Amino acid sequence: MDKFVIQGGNRLQGEIQVSGAKNAAVGLIPAVLLCDEECVLENVPDISDVSICLRILYELGASVEMLKPDTYRINCKGVRGFSVPYESAKQMRASYYFLGALLGRTGKARVSMPGGCPLGDRPIDQHLKAFSALGARSCNDHGMIDLSADKLVGGQIYFDVVTVGATMNAMLAAVKAEGLTIIENAAKEPHIVDLANFLNSMGADIMGAGTDVIKIRGVSYLHGTTYAVIPDQIEAGTFMVAAAATGGDVLVKGVIPKHLEPITNKMKKIGVNIEEFDDAVRVWVDGPLVKTSIKTQPHPGFPTDMQPQMATLLTLAEGTSVVTEGVWEQRFRYVEELRRMGADIAVNDKVAIITGTGKLMGAPVKACDLRAGAALIIAGLAANGVTEIEDIHHIERGYGNIEEKLRGIGGDIRKVSTPPTAMKKAL
Ligand code: EPU
Repeated sequence: MDKFVIQGGNRLQGEIQVSGAKNAAVGLIPAVLLCDEECVLENVPDISDVSICLRILYELGASVEMLKPDTYRINCKGVRGFSVPYESAKQMRASYYFLGALLGRTGKARVSMPGGCPLGDRPIDQHLKAFSALGARSCNDHGMIDLSADKLVGGQIYFDVVTVGATMNAMLAAVKAEGLTIIENAAKEPHIVDLANFLNSMGADIMGAGTDVIKIRGVSYLHGTTYAVIPDQIEAGTFMVAAAATGGDVLVKGVIPKHLEPITNKMKKIGVNIEEFDDAVRVWVDGPLVKTSIKTQPHPGFPTDMQPQMATLLTLAEGTSVVTEGVWEQRFRYVEELRRMGADIAVNDKVAIITGTGKLMGAPVKACDLRAGAALIIAGLAANGVTEIEDIHHIERGYGNIEEKLRGIGGDIRKVSTPPTAMKKAL
C-alpha cells in the first residue's frame, strides 16, 4: 500500500509543468477506434486512467506503441472486438466512451457499467438517450450495457442536463452516422472542443463545439492524424492553489490561460496575485487571503473538479466562505479528512460553510476520491507538521508524478510504499 508523506510548511517556489488533460485524453483514446489508420497522440498524461484506456484498446485488438513517455502510436486496423469486460471498465468512469466509439465503429458495443470516483448517483440515461436518437437500441444485460444499430442515422439530441460525458459520447457515435446530428444543451468544457478538434483533424465535420449547440455532419471515413492533447486545466488549477496555500510564488507552465479563467477569477477575488503569459501563469501571494462564495457549475462556471482544492484554500483565508456544489451529489466527503487537520467546515447537503482558521495541522488522512486527494496534498503542503495520505491510487488516476513535480518547486512530499510482507506482519 502506497501513501504520500508530506512535511508541511515549505513555501512553493519555481516552475512547474502541466501535463495533458485527463478528461480529454480518456475521450481521445477511444476515439481512435473510429479510424483504421495510424494515429499519433502527443502530450498524453502519465496517469492510471490513461493506462487503463490504452489497455482496453490493446485488448480489443489495436496496436499500441509508446514512442515517448507522453506519445503513443495507435492503429485500430486489427480491432475485431466490440466488448469491454467488467474487469477493465469497472476501474474508471470514462470507460463509457468505449460505448460511443465502438458503436460508431461497428454499430455494436458491449461495455460494463462504468466505475470511477464515488461522487453520488452517476446515471448514464443521457448517453443512452443520445444513442437512441441516432437509431441504436440499448439494454442492460447483467451489468453490461449492450448497444446495437443496423445503421446509425443523424438525429436531434436535446440533453435534459448539461453533461460532459454524454456530449462527448454523442459526438463519438454521430461522427460517422449518416446525415446531420444536432446536439442541443451540449456541455462546453475545453475537452469537448479538444475532442471535436481531434476528430476534425481525422476528417470529421463537427461545428459549434464549445457552444451549447454542436452540429455534426456524418462522414463515411476518418483518416489517421497526429494530435496533441490540451493541457490539463484541473492539474494547472491544483498547482495554482497549492502555490497560494503555501504563500508561494510559482510559474505554472504549459497551460492555456483562457481555460483557467473561471479558476483565476476566483483566486484573484480572494487576494491571490495572478499574471497571465501566452502559455503560463504566475501565481503569488503577498497579503492576506479573504473569504468568498463559490458555486460549481458546468463550464464556463467554476469547475466542480476544483471545488475541494479551493475549499482547502478557503480554510486558510480570513472570514467565512460559502461553497455550493452544483454538479455532484456527494463531493464533500473530503471535509471529514480536512477537519482532522484542523479545518472548520460545516456541511449541509450541497453547501459547505468554511470558517477560515488561517492554519492547518498535519494528520493521517485518506483520499476518498481523486480531487479530494489533491485537496489533501494541498492541505498537507500548507500544514504545520507531517501529513500522511492513504489510498493514493485515487490521486494517481488523474495526476502523473505529482510528488516529483511538487518536489521540483520545494514541496517536501514523498511516496512511501509498504511492502506486502510488512503489511502481513502488522496484521
Ligand atoms: N448526468 C445525468 N445523466 C447522464 C449523465 C450525467 O443525470 O446520463 C448528471 C450527473 O449525475 C451530474 C451531471 O449530469 O450531476 C454532470 O455529469 P457529467 O456527465 O458532466 O459528468 P461525467 O462526464 O461523468 C466528467 C468528468 C468529471 C467531472 C464532470 C463534470 C470525465 C471522465 N469525468 O464526468 O471529472 O467532474 O465531467 O465536469 O471527464 C474528475 O476528473 O475528478 C471528475 C470527476
